Amino acid sequence: MTKPNIHAVHRDWDRDFPVIVRTEGIYLYDEHGRRYIDGSGGSSVVTSLGHGVAEIPQAMYDQAQKFSFYPAHAFTNQPFLDLCDLIVSLAPGELRDNSRVWITCTGTDATDDAVRLARQYWVESGNPSKYQVISRWQAFHGNNVAVAGFSGLTARRKIFQPMYVDSPHIPPAFCYRCAYEQTYPACNLLCARALETAILQQGPENVAAFIAEPVVGAALGCVPAPDGYFQKIREICDRHDVLFIADEVMTGWGRTGKIWGIEHWDVTPDIIATAKGMTAGYTPLSAILARDEIWQALERNHSAFKAGHTLNANAVSCAGAIAVINYSLSHDLAGNAAARGEQALAGLADLMAKHPIIGDVRGRGLMFGFELVADRATRAPFPPARKVSSLIEAAALRHGLVTYPCTGTIAGGPGDMMLMAPPLVISEEEMNEVLAILDLAVGEVEETLEVR
Ligand SMILES: Cc1ncc(COP(=O)(O)O)c(C=O)c1O
Repeated sequence: MTKPNIHAVHRDWDRDFPVIVRTEGIYLYDEHGRRYIDGSGGSSVVTSLGHGVAEIPQAMYDQAQKFSFYPAHAFTNQPFLDLCDLIVSLAPGELRDNSRVWITCTGTDATDDAVRLARQYWVESGNPSKYQVISRWQAFHGNNVAVAGFSGLTARRKIFQPMYVDSPHIPPAFCYRCAYEQTYPACNLLCARALETAILQQGPENVAAFIAEPVVGAALGCVPAPDGYFQKIREICDRHDVLFIADEVMTGWGRTGKIWGIEHWDVTPDIIATAKGMTAGYTPLSAILARDEIWQALERNHSAFKAGHTLNANAVSCAGAIAVINYSLSHDLAGNAAARGEQALAGLADLMAKHPIIGDVRGRGLMFGFELVADRATRAPFPPARKVSSLIEAAALRHGLVTYPCTGTIAGGPGDMMLMAPPLVISEEEMNEVLAILDLAVGEVEETLEVR
């Protein structure tokens, strides 16, 4: 038994954190020999390949034997060059073979660098008044002070609020709790058209970019935008010279059943931020890719991109990313995500028929989730103090399944949901096991609640 450690700060003061000692496929094993299914793909939506794929650490070890670090202001490294070529060869729409890549460390670095690039592009191309970044409420783009400001995750924003720069937010594309109390498609996509209103209010000459997740992850429990949404967003951005940044930190690399989440809408963003599934948790790494024309504006002025961290484009991590991407392509993990995602949504619909506390099920590919309500007819949430999503997380964990509980679907306050994102290698049988445990966990918690 590992002794409690008083020097390490964990994410929560009020729970025990068993020590993980071994992992394999979709499974994690703790120090007591207990087995858990990694149903949230790490914390969260990271472990795309599953655990223990030997060729990934092998590729990193091979590189580390040559070198891992070098003076990046004076030299470059081959895995970095190869990784950028690979990413551009797989880029969506008009970005394919027409973009360039900047490699950094975390998802937050990627979204931060994406908005920096948007701002720098406008300055370098003679439009220095364009600086604002418009984003959506109930969106999560990362956790540094700047990025948390343009993120829309209320609970994480509140205490840092005075430190944020001016950044307008529009309502999310969230049909289950539509901000306009409309129904799709009769709504005529008011939530997308809100972007045009925001741009006009700010003045297009002040707006640099709009950023959005194709499928909202932690802030909404896997909500894909409705059909036509991103096409409308693209149109509006084009009309007002605003760059469209797709935050594919969660949705990239096959997670939603296609390599890029935005491909479901057949729209090309100007800049993409990506991380998580790109290295599947084997090593930290993230990237932005952007239209060639954007980089050319900097290049023409001999103006280096004003961003960067000491550990950017680490050679060992780049070698790991190449191995992860090649593995996911050769095993068609996007194809498996699409098939298993359909199975998951059908299974969740069955659970919804059985459990009145499930008010909505949603997702795309292997990013799926459900929302918990006290009253299905009115969609009334549980009082936050009941911590219903945490209770379900705890029950599922007792039965050997890791889930990711989220809160705040209603103006960032009440609203419980569960986010699921098992590794993309999950089999049909294993998915049945995930669904069976969710059934047990929801049933156990439901019995303790008053539900209509
Ligand atoms: C959509 C999205 N963007 C950005 C981030 C930030 O990534 P990181 O935690 O690697 O900094 C996250 C993290 O969950 C995310 O879900």
